[in-house]
Amino acid sequence: MPLLRLTTGTFGQLRTFATSQALGKRVKTFAVYRWNPDEPDKKPYTQNYEVDLDDCAPMVLDALLKIKNEIDPTLTFRRSCREGVCGSCAMNIDGVNTLACISHIDTNLSKPSKIYPLPHMYVVKDLVPDLTNFYRQYQSIEPWLQRDKEAVKGKETQLLQDVEDRAKLDGLYECVLCACCSTSCPSYWWNGDKYLGPAVLMQAYRWIIDSRDDATDKRLSKLKDTYSVYRCHTIMNCTRTCPKGLNPGRAIAQIKTLLSGIVKKQPPIMDPAGLDKQAAHN
Ligand code: SF4
Ligand code: SF4
Ligand code: FES
Repeated sequence: MPLLRLTTGTFGQLRTFATSQALGKRVKTFAVYRWNPDEPDKKPYTQNYEVDLDDCAPMVLDALLKIKNEIDPTLTFRRSCREGVCGSCAMNIDGVNTLACISHIDTNLSKPSKIYPLPHMYVVKDLVPDLTNFYRQYQSIEPWLQRDKEAVKGKETQLLQDVEDRAKLDGLYECVLCACCSTSCPSYWWNGDKYLGPAVLMQAYRWIIDSRDDATDKRLSKLKDTYSVYRCHTIMNCTRTCPKGLNPGRAIAQIKTLLSGIVKKQPPIMDPAGLDKQAAHN
């Protein structure tokens, strides 16, 4: 698999403009990264496709689907929800990591839209990055609620949470795990095997800060090494690129304050088991 590094192929620009003038239509060129594992001797290249914007819905994913359905069925990319909630259509569009389904096509016909897979990832095919390491790292933070205080373990109980404690999860739970942030992070580019990256760290923080979760100390101690968290140098590319408007850089900073002991996780306002509804803060 080739390791993708961004390149700046520019051919096709003049021809595109001439074509759109001649046809009298709004024809846009999409320069798309191609690589096929079944042709290992052929180097990755960009392929130009021309799409009539008057016959295409407005998002980049719409153009890619039109290309796949009407021009080239071999073009490969991930997608599912087409409304920014599954995270699968993440790719690099005109130099920005984002979700193709919620990105408007740039209607400037004089320059092609350049579409690449997420940067610095191994490529499975065309626009599909290999997310194996990313998901393994996500699994490593144990992204589920962990309790040890129930009187009867294994018994299903509704866990309660005060409105104020619930609000601490806002801006965290909305993450769609698209990996746009992690693959825009220079530290993740160079140390992605050991540094967890902003997406996974934001999810780690989401469980650390959850008032119903009892595994806080275990979660934090697993992050206490020189790589997992501390490779973040607060460059904030992650926050700038997040297509959901979230702030993984801030979540990492909050993990650091907990790791350093400057800040301690507050006890829950309401006892999650409902035994003492006015638990710790009284
Ligand atoms: S703030 Fe940290 S995680 Fe975000 S891009 Fe910078 S180094 Fe990467
Ligand atoms: S924080 Fe934003 S960019 Fe990062 S994985 Fe979640 S939704 Fe994607
Ligand atoms: S297709 Fe689901 S986020 Fe784009």
